[in-house]
Amino acid sequence: MKKIIIDCDPGLDDAVALIAAFGAKDLCVLALTTVAGNVKGPQTAYNARVIREVSGQDESVPVSEGAPQPILRDAVTAEDFHGSTGLGGIDYPDPVLPLSGEHAVNTIIRLCRDAKDAPLTLIITGPMTNAALALTMAPDIQSGIAEIVLMGGADTEGGNITPFAEFNIYADPHAAAVVFGCGLPIRCLSLDVTHGIRTTKARLAAVRAVGNKQALAAGDLLDASCKLEFSAKSDRDAPLHDPSTVLAFTHPHLFKGRKANVSVVTEVGEQFGRTVPTFAESGNVLWYETADDDAVFAALCGLLEGHS
Ligand code: RIB
Ligand code: CA
Repeated sequence: MKKIIIDCDPGLDDAVALIAAFGAKDLCVLALTTVAGNVKGPQTAYNARVIREVSGQDESVPVSEGAPQPILRDAVTAEDFHGSTGLGGIDYPDPVLPLSGEHAVNTIIRLCRDAKDAPLTLIITGPMTNAALALTMAPDIQSGIAEIVLMGGADTEGGNITPFAEFNIYADPHAAAVVFGCGLPIRCLSLDVTHGIRTTKARLAAVRAVGNKQALAAGDLLDASCKLEFSAKSDRDAPLHDPSTVLAFTHPHLFKGRKANVSVVTEVGEQFGRTVPTFAESGNVLWYETADDDAVFAALCGLLEGHS
């Protein structure tokens, strides 16, 4: 079993990523750690509890609430793309299982220290505040982390929250600079690759056709993403942002990219939050650029079938 932590800001696409991860037979989700991002911190934590139960999980997968605000900048959210609840206003039963009593940063530190004999993978699908705080508080945890797989950034695609910046980086650029610069191996799903993986009507129908409760929930979440994407930004189908982190982890052969070192613009100005990859074989970041989008959606359906 491959051990992972998912640090997230659910969020519609985060929610699909979680449901997909819980359907993967060879993944062991050690914890969900949450961070302020798409919506405020307490709401992302509540949403993670909701999706834990939609996915049929129990408290053996703790949900730990993390940083309620970015390290330095003012807080920003993305209700335009996720609705005021963060889950597109979809009506879910209130979660029964509680939050863990542990702060997300301490959960990450504890689990990474426990993993030194068999390092885990840290998947990040929101602003990187928790990860940056953990790496700063306890640099020793690097020996318990095999790699980080994250959704964030943009280069050739340009930004989605400003012309230069993608939301997860823009929401906490200082945290992103800490993570990209920590030296750990990183695989980055930026807009450069996720904008090429779109939730078309046919793909949405294929997700729904898997037919189990979790696949139907994922279909509703993807459908809500498409509706909000259309209304908020473009006339195109919603990109598959956060689920692409889980799929890159379970199906790496479907994604292609180049090694790079990645810097983040942290000076306030029009490029605040921009990621700048400098491509070099010696880079610690695999900056994905293309994906086999048909196969990615087929793989997503495969993971969802794992709930049956
Ligand atoms: O830019 C897309 C990213 O921002 C995704 O992680 C989405 O959930 C939002 O957090
Ligand atoms: Ca997210």
